[in-house]
Amino acid sequence: MPSHSPLTATAAAGLLATALFNSASASSWTLTDTYDANSFLQTSSWNYSTGTDPTHGLVVYQSADQAKQLNLTRVENDLFYMGVSTVEEQLAGRPSIRINSQKSYSDGIYVLNATHMPTSCAVWPAWWTVTKNLDSWPIGGEIDIIENANDQYDSNLASLHTNGSCILPEANNGTGIIAYQDCGDSSTGCRIEMNGTTGASASNTGPAFNKADGGIYAMERSLGSTGNGIRVWFWPQGSAPSDLASGSNSVNPANWGKPGAQFAIADECHADFGEHQITFDITLCGDWAGNTYEQTSCAKTYGACSAQVGYNGSSFNEAYWAVDSVRVFSTGGGTDNAANSANTASVSASSVSAENAKGGNGSSSGAMVAAVALPWSVAALVAVVSAWTLVA
Ligand SMILES: *[C@@H]1O[C@H](CO)[C@@H](O)[C@H](O)[C@H]1NC(C)=O
Ligand SMILES: *[C@@H]1O[C@H](CO)[C@@H](O)[C@H](O)[C@H]1NC(C)=O
Ligand SMILES: *[C@@H]1O[C@H](CO)[C@@H](O)[C@H](O)[C@H]1NC(C)=O
Ligand SMILES: *[C@@H]1O[C@H](CO)[C@@H](O)[C@H](O)[C@H]1NC(C)=O
Ligand SMILES: *[C@@H]1O[C@H](CO)[C@@H](O)[C@H](O)[C@H]1NC(C)=O
Ligand SMILES: *[C@@H]1O[C@H](CO)[C@@H](O)[C@H](O)[C@H]1NC(C)=O
Ligand SMILES: *[C@@H]1O[C@H](CO)[C@@H](O)[C@H](O)[C@H]1NC(C)=O
Repeated sequence: MPSHSPLTATAAAGLLATALFNSASASSWTLTDTYDANSFLQTSSWNYSTGTDPTHGLVVYQSADQAKQLNLTRVENDLFYMGVSTVEEQLAGRPSIRINSQKSYSDGIYVLNATHMPTSCAVWPAWWTVTKNLDSWPIGGEIDIIENANDQYDSNLASLHTNGSCILPEANNGTGIIAYQDCGDSSTGCRIEMNGTTGASASNTGPAFNKADGGIYAMERSLGSTGNGIRVWFWPQGSAPSDLASGSNSVNPANWGKPGAQFAIADECHADFGEHQITFDITLCGDWAGNTYEQTSCAKTYGACSAQVGYNGSSFNEAYWAVDSVRVFSTGGGTDNAANSANTASVSASSVSAENAKGGNGSSSGAMVAAVALPWSVAALVAVVSAWTLVA
């Protein structure tokens, strides 16, 4: 109805009621895509990276065919399993998986139902979204929804990475604790530790997550004019809100209660986030798990991260994802949805040279991609492992 229409009192009252109803349901999002277990084996849906790991992990990423042959991926009981090789000795880098969705998305609700996540020393698993223009990263941004390394955090870490400085406001409605505030920090990004998420016995990461058959993660990216920024929720199996039940066609985070993490960045850093692909990966050692290995009890057990990767395949028995589904609700969302507005973030890759983009470094790095990876070679791993053997 045009806004200048004359209104009767009754019609006006009706509109008011509608407006009130809409404000409660303003952030209702409609299902766009469902990725069930079998979809993960389809290369039309998921791209299996075979490049070197930009975070310098001691892994050799496998194509979809190779991964199947090595039994690193399979579907069983409607769950998609993807893990690292458990062959005892792998001196040339341990076979692993990194996949990204072929499709890109912007604002919306991203839902993961997983019954197991990769755990163990040396393991740095992540479920995240990142700019489809990886060569110009961090332009276009990155959202790390699930992350840990060496199981060293008792609670999940959620982080954002942006090209320019983007400071998280302290004021937010999430239950998590802000660990790092500047999303533009080239090493850590901004990070929220989700240690206040749900009931005391619920764990959203590590072995405890697996013991409880995992749960449901939902990430809302709403960078529109009324959006809440980026929020992450976790629920143990069986306790997710009813609109997240499988088969649901729409979801409304307004009914979900407090998120475990809220990055209240809608106004400041909107344009830092372009279209993203959804990524899962399992890397070993590298810029994070490798650099912090010495600070954990892992070093006492295995001596060195590279030695564990090189010689102890059985220590990676738990280093796998078991995924029921990923769902994306990216339509609707009203004015929470920047992708539906003229204000959609767009990123010009040509405005930055590849040399300007850099990946994470430093001991607490959470950065996941790098346009200019340092030279990685199988020889390097063999050299490191040999050196350790000589010393040991
Ligand atoms: C697929 O992954 C490769 C790296 O192995 C990358 O070069 C390519 O751009 C990716 N394609 C898509 C559509 O994501
Ligand atoms: C693949 O791995 C699973 C889990 O370890 C095992 O149950 C299955 O027998 C393996 N399949 C093959 C063909 O090796
Ligand atoms: C990215 O950051 C660099 C360094 O701060 C800056 O020079 C450049 O203009 C930024 N590019 C975009 C597209 O924001
Ligand atoms: C937190 O919730 C209150 C009440 O719903 C709302 O007014 C406020 O804008 C929210 N703050 C953020 C940062 O989302
Ligand atoms: C969460 O972790 C922070 C920093 O480690 C700590 O200060 C805070 O008390 C923790 N909160 C809960 C609910 O455990
Ligand atoms: C999550 O996956 C488990 C295992 O497949 C299933 O039993 C459960 O119903 C799923 N829950 C939701 C909300 O999709
Ligand atoms: C691998 O590590 C386990 C401890 O997790 C240990 O019991 C086993 O002996 C190790 N195997 C090798 C070959 O080092």
